[in-house]
Amino acid sequence: MARIGVIGTGSMGGMLIRKFVETGAFPAGDIVARSRSPEKARAVAAATGIEIAGSNLDLAVASDVIFICVEPLEVKPLLKELKGVLTADKLVVSIAADVMISDISALCDARVARVIPSVTSECSKGVSLVAFGDNSTEADRSLVLSAFGSISRPFETEEKNLELLADLTSCAPAFISSMMHEFALSAVRRERISPEHAELLVMETLAGTAELLKTVNSFEEVVTRVATKGGITEEGVKVIRKVVPSMYDDLLEVTLAKHSLVKERIGDQAS
Ligand SMILES: NC(=O)c1ccc[n+]([C@@H]2O[C@H](COP(=O)([O-])OP(=O)(O)OC[C@H]3O[C@@H](n4cnc5c(N)ncnc54)[C@H](OP(=O)(O)O)[C@@H]3O)[C@@H](O)[C@H]2O)c1
Repeated sequence: MARIGVIGTGSMGGMLIRKFVETGAFPAGDIVARSRSPEKARAVAAATGIEIAGSNLDLAVASDVIFICVEPLEVKPLLKELKGVLTADKLVVSIAADVMISDISALCDARVARVIPSVTSECSKGVSLVAFGDNSTEADRSLVLSAFGSISRPFETEEKNLELLADLTSCAPAFISSMMHEFALSAVRRERISPEHAELLVMETLAGTAELLKTVNSFEEVVTRVATKGGITEEGVKVIRKVVPSMYDDLLEVTLAKHSLVKERIGDQAS
């Protein structure tokens, strides 16, 4: 069995460890973790039974597969700290946005994969985007796709697509939640329902719509089933189709511009 190391047990790293252990993707006994704030690693260890490494270096030496779950601008400094240890017999799986496989390969000899997970893996749902470096092996592909397959639906893509697709999978839980919140608040502004009740109604409907979409497998089909011709829902759908396309075009424009900015800052960090 591969020995698994996880560096960074914040929101994502912590969730991945909990879910990998819960689903049996990796047994707790095969996982060692390390985080800059020791209490975060201790909390995950207490909840899952994994080990805590004495240092990032100890972790990297002891692990066959190293998950890098730190902030994008922390990745290069971390790789420099691990200089000489991430050898060609190891696999690095980075979940950091905007840190390219070439950035990682420039600082270590390990084989590299990138994964963009989603907070929806908390419920073993949603999509993990996966891209492999040229030097990755069939065993690497199988390990990564199987681990993320146990907590989500993995979707393999070329690295150049990761940012755009991440808006649809990894950022989307925030986009969908804030959009649905605005929907609820719009009803609240009519002063006939409390914010709590409006949120509850929209959340339950969102959960029901997600289930329905799983069975009919088509957005358009759900729209057609509710928005009967000449009816009231159709009027609302017309407003959405008029207003929302440009909102999403704007949204993708600003998020992609932000990715470029972060990539520039990563590029400016010394290799
Ligand atoms: N959140 C998401 O939905 C999401 C989705 C896809 C991908 N990602 C990617 O996942 C990565 C982590 O995101 P997050 O939301 O989990 O951030 P986070 O909650 O801030 O977690 C990052 C963790 O890494 C630790 N850390 C930073 N530098 C370290 C180092 N040199 N050695 C050991 N630990 C270190 C931090 O320690 P401290 O606690 O001391 O700061 C923190 O606990 C990011 O690169 C992000 O792009 C996030």
